[in-house]
Amino acid sequence: MVETLPMDEKYKVHMSKYFEEYNRSLTDMDGFWNEKAKIIDWFKPFDKVLDDSKKPFYKWFINGKTNMSYNCLDRYIKTEKRNKVAFIWVSEKGDEKMVTYYGLYRRVNAFARGLLNLGIKRGDKVTIYMPMILETPIAMLACARIGAVFNVVFSGFGEEALAQRINDSNSKTVITADGGYRKGKIIELKNLVDKAIDLSRGVDNVIVVKNANNKINMEQDRDYYYDDIIEEGYVKPEELDSNDPLFILYTSGTTGKPKGILHGNGGYPVWIANTLKWAFDPKDEDRWWCAADIGWITGHSYIVFAPLLLGLTSIMYEGAIDHPKPDRMWDIIEKYGVNILHTSPTAIRLLMKYGEKYPKGHDLSSLKTLGTVGEPINPAAWHWYYEVIGKNKCPIIDTYWQTETGGFTVSPSLNLGIPDLKPGSATFPLPGIEPAVFDENGNNVKPGEKGYIVIKRPWPGLMLTVNGDDKRYIETYFSKFKNKYFMGDYAIKDNDGYYWLLGRADEVLKVAGHRIGTMEVEDGLVSMKEIAEAAVFGKPDTIKGDTIIAFATLKDGYDKSPELIEDIKKRIKNNLGPIMVPEEIHIVSAVPKTRSGKIMRRVIKAVYLDQLPGDVSTLENEASVDEIRKAVEIIKGGD
Ligand code: WT7
Repeated sequence: MVETLPMDEKYKVHMSKYFEEYNRSLTDMDGFWNEKAKIIDWFKPFDKVLDDSKKPFYKWFINGKTNMSYNCLDRYIKTEKRNKVAFIWVSEKGDEKMVTYYGLYRRVNAFARGLLNLGIKRGDKVTIYMPMILETPIAMLACARIGAVFNVVFSGFGEEALAQRINDSNSKTVITADGGYRKGKIIELKNLVDKAIDLSRGVDNVIVVKNANNKINMEQDRDYYYDDIIEEGYVKPEELDSNDPLFILYTSGTTGKPKGILHGNGGYPVWIANTLKWAFDPKDEDRWWCAADIGWITGHSYIVFAPLLLGLTSIMYEGAIDHPKPDRMWDIIEKYGVNILHTSPTAIRLLMKYGEKYPKGHDLSSLKTLGTVGEPINPAAWHWYYEVIGKNKCPIIDTYWQTETGGFTVSPSLNLGIPDLKPGSATFPLPGIEPAVFDENGNNVKPGEKGYIVIKRPWPGLMLTVNGDDKRYIETYFSKFKNKYFMGDYAIKDNDGYYWLLGRADEVLKVAGHRIGTMEVEDGLVSMKEIAEAAVFGKPDTIKGDTIIAFATLKDGYDKSPELIEDIKKRIKNNLGPIMVPEEIHIVSAVPKTRSGKIMRRVIKAVYLDQLPGDVSTLENEASVDEIRKAVEIIKGGD
């Protein structure tokens, strides 16, 4: 039995508005989006809402010209918002900086001029490898202003992961900082950039923000300090086409290298601004805190762009949410009077583990609404969040979406009217989203049955393509079910029409809400001189969702030892980044594979978790009974 949590009448009065808007978005798509696209300003209005003549390469707001930086800044500086705080930045050490819309406008212009002076122009690709400091959104907005396509790489990635993203995006410019803080330690970002450049093709410019004041090496005629290149003044925002690229953001897939997800200048802002408004209904006087990292899509869409597009005050926190003490999050909420908090189930579970005494030591009464994102939320964490943090009065907005969708897709909608909540369900699709749950053959499964969630029609936030790889875009997202967007997750739609998201249906792990491709970690392992073969899978973890487990074989001439395992972990940390380090690496005599050479990840996982014999039917696609038996022998006979 699934429990239902009745929402206050004050929310329910509008539920009819949700159905009205939702139905209109599907039956009168043109009329709906003509109206909703007005959430941003257009230099030149579009002639047509959607061009679907080259499916699945959908184009939105045809021939419309606009600019993200203009929409986030210029249109507010002549209004009463000019002196409103755009970002409240809080450092891990507890320092704070506030920047107004006008201040941000000036800083973005000054940096845009600096970029132009270095010869960076419209269409150029720029990699941004930065800690969570104000210069990060400034760099993104400055690139957007001049039409340079930015590619933010999470500062927790290592040198090889960075090099791969610099190369694949074809960036000739890297923007970084000397260092960033994480749990009191300095991450030497500039040094990592130097190493990544050694592995890359021709980076011409490196721009360095002085932040941690750690010792760095500056190369003549290549490396410039941010402070030395900025130049006050006005830079006219480029009139970009709605379907010109805005940014690339890499995310992990099931096969091969990470995919560069490409989002555009028109559809993306329209989608994220509307979805933030629908889901959270933020008010002008609210303080909004999306506690994510700008290195991921959540930070792009809901720390930086959507809050600015709506003219809100957005909190940006530099460090770890439990540093220096487990009450850091509650401390920030109290100190800054945060009204809306959006965070992840991993964060909630971690803070829940520390106990109630930490939130109870703070006045959290400013909170009105709570959000969760990144992975399915288990009912226990949901209840703790609702009761202990929200004091039974803050609706929980569980937003289900992904890098590729640009913004929220399934989520309760406070602005249009939320349904009674069911802990663990993201509830209903937002306007414009037409989901379905399919079986293997593309037929709808019955209500209450598990299947694959798809979206049956395009919406403005859908990615443009995979950067430089149209084929992979089609194969990954539109081939399993023709012309239906395949999200890669299992879901159930229950009898009341609520969606329950059940996790990935592919070989992608969710470690602390971050997407990690098993293949990426395997590639990292087998690129080491000692390792012959590797298989990686996720072990369920009560806080992080998944932790990474690896089984590997050694090449001839190498012997297993605890020192070797530790050394391998260290190298993964440097090359790929701390989030990709396996918790356990088991050296075995062989990596179980099918006769056709496919690594039997799910079988290995089932044996490891002692779940065999269990539901072998789900493993049948993967291996024969005989192959499974052999795998058991190998894994059980492991180390
Ligand atoms: C994958 C996307 C969405 C921004 C952050 C992660 C999982 C995300 C939820 C949710 C259940 C969720 C899915 C999705 N996911 N939000 N509310 N409930 N699962 O973006 O790295 O692109 O990951 O995260 O598996 O496909 P991402």
